[in-house]
Amino acid sequence: MCGIVGYIGNKQSIDVLVNGLEKLEYRGYDSAGIAVLDDNQNLDIRKSKGRLAVLEENTKKIKVNGNIGIGHTRWATHGEPSDRNSHPHFNSSKNIAVVHNGIIENFNDLKDELIEKGYNFLSETDTEVIPCLIDNYYKGDLLDAVKKTIARLEGAFALAIVSKDDPDKLIAVRKDSPLIIGVGEGENFIASDIPAVINYTRNIYLLENGEMAVLKKDHVSIMDFEGNKVEKEVYNITWDIDQAEKGGYDHFMIKEIFEQPKALRDTISPRITKDNDIRLDDIDLTEEYIKGINKIYIVACGTAYHAGIVGKSLIEKYAKIPVLTDVASEFRYNNPFIDDKTLMIVVSQSGETADTLAALRLAKEKGARTLAVCNVVGSSIAREADDILYTWAGPEIAVASTKAYTTQVAAFIIMALYLGKLTDNISDEKYNNILKELSTLPEKVEYILKDTSKLEEIASKMTEKEDVFFIGRGIDYNMALEGSLKLKEVTYIHSEAMAAGELKHGTLALIEEGTPTISLATQDHLYDKMISNMREVKARGGYIIAVSKEGNTSVEKSADEVIYVPDAADDVIAPLAIIPLQLLSYHVAVKRGCDVDKPRNLAKSVTVE
Ligand code: M6R
Repeated sequence: MCGIVGYIGNKQSIDVLVNGLEKLEYRGYDSAGIAVLDDNQNLDIRKSKGRLAVLEENTKKIKVNGNIGIGHTRWATHGEPSDRNSHPHFNSSKNIAVVHNGIIENFNDLKDELIEKGYNFLSETDTEVIPCLIDNYYKGDLLDAVKKTIARLEGAFALAIVSKDDPDKLIAVRKDSPLIIGVGEGENFIASDIPAVINYTRNIYLLENGEMAVLKKDHVSIMDFEGNKVEKEVYNITWDIDQAEKGGYDHFMIKEIFEQPKALRDTISPRITKDNDIRLDDIDLTEEYIKGINKIYIVACGTAYHAGIVGKSLIEKYAKIPVLTDVASEFRYNNPFIDDKTLMIVVSQSGETADTLAALRLAKEKGARTLAVCNVVGSSIAREADDILYTWAGPEIAVASTKAYTTQVAAFIIMALYLGKLTDNISDEKYNNILKELSTLPEKVEYILKDTSKLEEIASKMTEKEDVFFIGRGIDYNMALEGSLKLKEVTYIHSEAMAAGELKHGTLALIEEGTPTISLATQDHLYDKMISNMREVKARGGYIIAVSKEGNTSVEKSADEVIYVPDAADDVIAPLAIIPLQLLSYHVAVKRGCDVDKPRNLAKSVTVE
């Protein structure tokens, strides 16, 4: 989603802004812009539709000089992608410029009010009311005008503001949309995400909701919206910039697929003790608490939701606690059964997904205890949940989630075992076996990744297809949903996932000669039933690409292609069997010439509802 960068210091701000915006490109955007306070104390504003390269071209032709500036990559919500609607937005006399992430819900009323006062609007955006309101309230004190402005705004907003009338400062504001401050020596930064500033500083202030900051070259002061000073610890970033760059791979997606053995190792091994037990230092769920709850909710979006539904089957199986699941965008409007005997688990890679965050807050309000499975340390979800089980996948940059999914599933396997033991519902034998299997996952993933040539071959056969189906039963169906999402988001091929037994209740009508049907057959107890479903498709001309476990050679009789993954217990197979599906999507996308890391219309971190 939109990206924000701000700089104040001694460097040419344009270089820092463009570099920072490049690091945020992965979030998805359709236009970009900058506003730099130039050496003559004028705001030089450049904006253009399209990729950052177009903006860079523009700023190279006629140079932009100045040490203070703000920049933005926009993902259109109000108004089409265009130069005019790109940020920064400014007031008519061009002395105040603002970049904004989020949505101003009452912008129409504010716009009418400002038009009556004589303000002109150049764009269709909600954001443009902000510089006009600041101008309206400006009586010689920028901070005061900003405070009065934000008191009028409803909705979500992360803002970076620069004014030629207050030329030695930048103002940053955060409400329901993430924003951080990078602290340097003789220079300071604003950004919507850490990769934008990590080239310059590892010292970060994480702004909370309802906080704002005034940045000068050599000082940062943080306050709440009423102006009360806030004392904050500097947070030190420990991960490396290399982890957020491509490191020789053609795309982040393939790099992140190949990082899965490490991501799984980092997520699993710190939780397993030498004497083969689970230690969850980060969460504090006691036996007494768990025995007192009546249900668990698992709520998330997209891929994170797909990991959550695997979690549901494992927790119900090992801990015998009823688990309800919902996508976060529906959860709030579905009259959820939440009370103080509910454990609410939210799952999020970014920790900033607006719907998931709102679901977490609603559950808290209704008295539930909240636990987050999250990848980004210090993100809003990580900070607001009562307990947090981190996935240690490292930065995930590609819009298509890969290593986040496998580590989220691993986190759920760990959690299900843990809850199973706390509730005395899992036998020691089962517990020890699954734990042992869990520790072997990273090397099994390494084995799958050693030779991906067969998947490339199959991908070549799929590039011209218009529809692809994914079928499975049980956990295989959960994986089918994720495989199908991956394929459609990066290749733009229409795809649907079905519970295999459900196919003949309607969707089978869509199977034609040669329709690729990816059939997951990894669950021992459902294997024979799955083979029958594959035969139903094959009998209608479908082209069956089966994914099964090594040793299940009988599947070859019912499939056109078989991809084997190493043998493993049914309950831990998801992080293995999903890898071929990720690779298949990646290779089809590359062969179709798609923008793999930044698929059209999508954003990495969905910070609007
Ligand atoms: O950051 P989150 O895990 O909360 O994001 C949730 C979804 O937006 C995300 O998983 C999305 O579905 C991915 N693009 C799928 O690859």
